Amino acid sequence: MTLEKTQLNEDIQFLLKDVNKPLAVVDLSGTIYKANHRFIESFGIGQQSNIRDVIAEQSLLTMNDMLKQISDKKRMTVEIQMKLHKDQCCVKVSVLYDETASKVIMLFDLSLINKKRLDIHWGSAFIQSDSLFIISDQEGIIKDMNELSIELFDISHEYFIGKTIDHVLELFSEKTLKIEKFKQQIAEEGHIETIQQYIHPSEHIRYYKIASFKDDETNLILTKITDFTEKTMLKQQLAHKGSLLEVGQLAASIAHEIRNPITTLKGFTQLLKATANDETLKYLNVIDDEIQRMELILSEMLFLSKPSSFEKEIISVHTLLSDIIRVIYPKATLESIMIVQDFEFEGEPSLFAEEGKLKQVLLNLLKNGLEAMQPGGTLSIYTKKSGQNKINIVIEDTGKGIDENHLKQIFMPYFTTRSSGTGLGLPFVLKTVEDQGGTISVTSELGKGTKFILSFPIAEKDKTITEEEKKKFVTK
Ligand SMILES: Nc1ncnc2c1ncn2[C@@H]1O[C@H](COP(=O)(O)OP(=O)(O)OP(=O)(O)O)[C@@H](O)[C@H]1O
Ligand SMILES: [Mg+2]
Repeated sequence: MTLEKTQLNEDIQFLLKDVNKPLAVVDLSGTIYKANHRFIESFGIGQQSNIRDVIAEQSLLTMNDMLKQISDKKRMTVEIQMKLHKDQCCVKVSVLYDETASKVIMLFDLSLINKKRLDIHWGSAFIQSDSLFIISDQEGIIKDMNELSIELFDISHEYFIGKTIDHVLELFSEKTLKIEKFKQQIAEEGHIETIQQYIHPSEHIRYYKIASFKDDETNLILTKITDFTEKTMLKQQLAHKGSLLEVGQLAASIAHEIRNPITTLKGFTQLLKATANDETLKYLNVIDDEIQRMELILSEMLFLSKPSSFEKEIISVHTLLSDIIRVIYPKATLESIMIVQDFEFEGEPSLFAEEGKLKQVLLNLLKNGLEAMQPGGTLSIYTKKSGQNKINIVIEDTGKGIDENHLKQIFMPYFTTRSSGTGLGLPFVLKTVEDQGGTISVTSELGKGTKFILSFPIAEKDKTITEEEKKKFVTK
């Protein structure tokens, strides 16, 4: 019910009960004739008191003017300072004159107070925080917001003010964030917390934690959005580490059991070879090859399970990459796959790492790339400077890509989609890269291709490595 539409002279009693905001009916001298419960609760005075008792000194003039003019003007809106809980607050008052009763009806809008209160409580947290804070009303209209939106979304906070909170929530994937459900939970439970993926305009995947809370007193909704990318990544990496450890223990016991019979098999095959004719030799060679393959798989399993210990040295990235490309070149040519190398990184960047292991990492990634492509595909290997002192080694293919579900699992031991694959390639890659102080990330698009980015700190070339540093490189 709005004030304008009410038949005031008949409905004063009804109005007093029905209106949810503080309301007072005063005579032209300011004496309170009637006040509703909200008014008494908010200002601590009621019937027979004078309204001036709760008006701050600097607003008394405005109040007197209003009482003088209202019988002519009939309707006015004034903003006055009022005394409230030992405080002074700005209140918007809608005033109406009821001619029949010669009474003034005053309706007090406290939302300005609420905003001020919020400003006091949240003021410094709001401005200085490294989270984005958004204050929206019951309808979802954004009333205020700090400037963090530029950092998080690359959009100025001014763009959002006055729009609905949906404009912010729509920035997240509708696959995971259902806006209606989100709002329903706030309405029903008063709060919600969720972590959502956000594709930043710079194409980086970020993870943001959104926490919304409804304040019953003010009926405002406070939403806090925090960059959670590093924590989420760390959690994902730890999850991989956990699975590597479990698999490692299992692998160690299996590998140990299988190694002995394999050694026996190998011995007898050599013996048989000495007396075999051409026909049998062919089969024995196949057995031999397969035994070698089994040994290779076993050593990969054991590598995942054991703490690694090897010596690091300064290695030239571009020489290393050229060596590896030479190794895969014949296979790529046979399969009509083009290899593109582009060492954008100027100069001769070096890494402090174990060369043999790094070669295996690159070979695994390049092998995966080749396996994902049809003839005519392109495998690109390039280096790029990243930040102040990091080098990115990028391996990109134009193969079949990896779907979203599989992408979450590719670093898990034994995950494979290839009939002849072991699924140990990428877990090896992840462990080795991390062991050597690097990070790995992957993006992929189905039908288009996959891109792995390895990032390592650049080493100073003239650095002399102490025995201590070499030994430090023993991981658990
Ligand atoms: N470049 C890529 N393109 C498409 N899918 C990939 C790519 N790299 C990895 N994958 C997917 O990840 C899975 C796991 O890879 P991983 O290297 O760990 O094992 P694998 O290649 O299947 O077996 P292995 O490396 O032991 O021969 C693959 O089976 C494949 O589904
Ligand atoms: Mg592989």
